[in-house]
Amino acid sequence: MSSGAGGRSGHVIHPDLRRTPPRALRGEGIYLYAEDGTRYLDGCSGAVAANIGHGVPEIREAMLEQAEKLSFSFRSQFSNEPSETLAERLGALLPGSLGWFFFVNSGSEATELAAKLAIQHWQERGLPRKTRVLSRTVSYHGMTLGALGMSGHAGRRSRFEPLLAKDAIVASPYCLRCPFGRSYPSCALACADDLQARIDAAGADTVAAFIAEPLVGASGAAITPPPDYYRRIRAICDANEVLFIADEVMTGMGRTGALVAMQHYDVTPDLLVLGKGLGAGYTPIAAAVASDELMRPIREGSGAVLYGHTLSANPLSAAVALAVLGYLQDHDLVANAAARGEQLAAGLRRLAREHRIIGEVRGKGLLQGLELVRDADLTPFPPSENVTGRLIRHAFARGLLVYPAAGAVQGSGDAVLIAPPLTIREAEVEELLRLLEDAFVELERDLDSGVDHALGIRA
Ligand SMILES: Cc1ncc(COP(=O)(O)O)c(C=O)c1O
Repeated sequence: MSSGAGGRSGHVIHPDLRRTPPRALRGEGIYLYAEDGTRYLDGCSGAVAANIGHGVPEIREAMLEQAEKLSFSFRSQFSNEPSETLAERLGALLPGSLGWFFFVNSGSEATELAAKLAIQHWQERGLPRKTRVLSRTVSYHGMTLGALGMSGHAGRRSRFEPLLAKDAIVASPYCLRCPFGRSYPSCALACADDLQARIDAAGADTVAAFIAEPLVGASGAAITPPPDYYRRIRAICDANEVLFIADEVMTGMGRTGALVAMQHYDVTPDLLVLGKGLGAGYTPIAAAVASDELMRPIREGSGAVLYGHTLSANPLSAAVALAVLGYLQDHDLVANAAARGEQLAAGLRRLAREHRIIGEVRGKGLLQGLELVRDADLTPFPPSENVTGRLIRHAFARGLLVYPAAGAVQGSGDAVLIAPPLTIREAEVEELLRLLEDAFVELERDLDSGVDHALGIRA
C-alpha cells in the first residue's frame, strides 16, 4: 500500500478536536499548499520555526546523504561527525565562550536542560541549595512540566498548575503596560530591578538562574525590552551569583536580524537555548549551549552530565541543522531578516495608523508583534470576543498564516506574531501586508456589526 493512502479516520489529536485542519501537502519557499490546492503564505513560519522557508532542495540532499551513512548512534556509545561539526561551527559564531552544546529534540527539553546544567554548576561548586530558576510573569519556555513551570503563560499552565513551579514572578519589561505604571526611561528600569527584589525575597543562596526570552514570544507577541535592560539584568545576576539563561528558541538563528537576539543588547548569557530555527522545521533539534565558565566546575568536578534523551545529538538531525546553518550563511539570511524586518515593521505601522484596533507594533527583524485593543486608551477586548482567533481565521481564509501570541494582559489580551521565513523577498512582504490588511478590514467589519463572519480554525 502506498504511504499516501488512507488515514482519514481522524485519530490524530489536533488542538480543536471538533475540527480537523486542512492537510498540508507540500511547501515551497514562503508558501504552503493544502491538499485542496489552496496556497497559504506562511506569515509566521509555522510556529516561528521554518526560518529558511519550505522545500529547500539543499536540505533534502543533506538529509539523504547523511541517511545513506548513519541516521542514529547513541550518544553515550558514540560521538558522530555531524554533531561535532555543528557544535564547532555554531560555537565559532556565538558570543563569548558559549561553545559547549547539548543537543536535544525540542525547545522545551533544551530550556529544562539549561536549568539542570545551571543547578549542576552550583552543586559542583558546593552550593547545592541554589536550585530555583526565576523567570518573568509574561514568558514561555516550553510545554513539558519543568519548562512550563518556568513559564508565565496562564493559558498553558492552568490545567497543570498544582504540578508546576511558582517562580515565574519577575516583572516583565512590558513598556506598553508597565507593571509599575511608569514609562521609559524615567522608570530607571524598575522591571529589571525587580529581579533583585525577587532574588532578595527568595535568598540568593537558593537561586540558581534567571531565564528570559530576549524578546518575549508566544506569550508576549515580541515584547521588546529597552536597550539597557539586559545590561542591568547581567549586572544583577553577577552581583548575586545567579546564572543568566537566554532562551533564544524563538529569537535565535537570525530571526531578529542578528544571529542571536542577545547580540542586539551586547550581553552574553551563561547559557543560551536554541531550537526552532536550528532545524528550521526540517528536523527536531534544539540545544542548550553553555559557556566555558559554566562548564569548568562540571568538567573539573564530577566530569559527568547524565541527563539526555534517546535521540540527543543524533547524526541525522545534526546533519540537517548543519545544512540549515550553511543555507542561512550562504544566502545571507540574517541580513535579509534585518532588511525585510524594517520593511515589514514600516508596513505594520502603516496598518496600525489605519486600523484603530492595532494598539502597538513591536519587535525586531522578522519577529514582529501586533497587540490588539478595543479602544484608543488600550483597553483589551474581553476574552469572550476571541479577537485573536477571529483575526487568525480571517487571515487563514485569505491564504495567510499568522501566529497567536495572546496572554500578556493578565493571562489574556489579544496579540499575534508576524514572522515569515527569513528568505522572504520585498514583493512578498508587500503581499503579506495586503492579505493582513484584508483580514483586518473583515475583522473590523465583524466587530462593528457584532457578527462573527469568520469560519474555520480556532486560534
Ligand atoms: C522561547 C521559547 N522557548 C521554548 C519553547 C518550546 O519549544 P518546543 O515547542 O520546541 O518544545 C518555545 C516554543 O514556542 C519558545 O518560543
